[in-house]
Amino acid sequence: MNCEYVKCLEFFSGIGGLHYAFILSEIKGEVVASFDINTVANSVYKHNFGKDPITKGIDSLTIEDIEKYKANCWLISPPCQPYTRGGKSLDDKDQRAKGLLHLIDILPTLSDLPNYIFLENVLNFEKSKCREKLVNQLCLTNYEITECLLTPLQFGIPNDRLRYYLMARKRSNSFELKDIILPHEYLKNATIHQTWPLSSMLKKDYQQENHSEPSDTFLLSTYLEKLNGEEIKKYLVPEKYILKSFNFRFDIVLPTDHKCSCFTKSYGSHHIYSSGSLIQTKNLEFTNYNFEDPSSLLNLELRFFTPEEIARLHAFPLKSQVQKSCDDLLKSNYNGPYLEFPENISIIQKYRMLGNSLNCFVVSKLLRYILFL
Ligand SMILES: C[S@@+](CC[C@H](N)C(=O)[O-])C[C@H]1O[C@@H](n2cnc3c(N)ncnc32)[C@H](O)[C@@H]1O
Repeated sequence: MNCEYVKCLEFFSGIGGLHYAFILSEIKGEVVASFDINTVANSVYKHNFGKDPITKGIDSLTIEDIEKYKANCWLISPPCQPYTRGGKSLDDKDQRAKGLLHLIDILPTLSDLPNYIFLENVLNFEKSKCREKLVNQLCLTNYEITECLLTPLQFGIPNDRLRYYLMARKRSNSFELKDIILPHEYLKNATIHQTWPLSSMLKKDYQQENHSEPSDTFLLSTYLEKLNGEEIKKYLVPEKYILKSFNFRFDIVLPTDHKCSCFTKSYGSHHIYSSGSLIQTKNLEFTNYNFEDPSSLLNLELRFFTPEEIARLHAFPLKSQVQKSCDDLLKSNYNGPYLEFPENISIIQKYRMLGNSLNCFVVSKLLRYILFL
């Protein structure tokens, strides 16, 4: 395991998913500064980490703004809309890609390039122009790159959230010029790994530390809160949302299931189709759903997952952990920081921020066993 003290810059920090993942990876180091323009997410970040993220747009950061932290690691989770159909798939032409493109441009101009770079994004990023530009720059500046597409289901967590991850390590200066991999060669032969552990991994360290890998994904019930009648009412899906959903096969799950679908930032709103699963709380024996007759679904008392349940599925450290799964997620000596929302944050704002965030457990493993190994 790497012994160097790691000083991270966290770009597009949101509620700090990458910061939690870094802490959970137990790598020696700290996040020295974070950057985000969303004031609501920043207030949550400050509440939990005691430090304000920098609100200057990442697309206008100067070399000095970055160099003054003397960081040797960049953690990056840029907006995903440029690569999604909902966001019109404009890729590098999308305004929301400007921050990432700026970081790619600024990288070779730094006097000290970061030794480590981690990036998280959605499926389809791997086919984008932005990824091509990033990989090009990383090859030209002499980084060794690992890319993968993984879902928490592969880690025993019953939530599907297929995401693209890139890990890049700076090669030492003694690396011979003739051994530099040219961008077009890299792009021609690149493997996007899709299994965990990755086939390229040095598995020895991983196996030594992970004796009890989950053989199966855990039940959803492990992650659910015991809600009383009043609390359940707060999360019931309004009848009008269901009745309007003629022929939309939205995802209904039972507490005994081993999987729920990806929660997006529209979860909890009237977009009940494809924004995340709904839990059936009544008539659990009935699963032959007729989506052509939405009124037949009303007696199932469908409810939204609570923000706390989603945070738990995303493996954020919470004060009230109920799950027995991912035993090594929170070691008994873990004493924070935890994810908590300040009181003024509404439920819909919580859903939005959690939908934008990431799975801290998956990222912590990638940091520990790929980036910093
Ligand atoms: C996919 S989310 C990242 C969420 C984060 N990883 C988390 O765990 O919450 C992208 C974030 O980028 C921020 N953002 C978008 N454009 C930005 C820009 N130009 N400068 C700084 N932050 C930006 C958004 O406010 C949002 O919080």
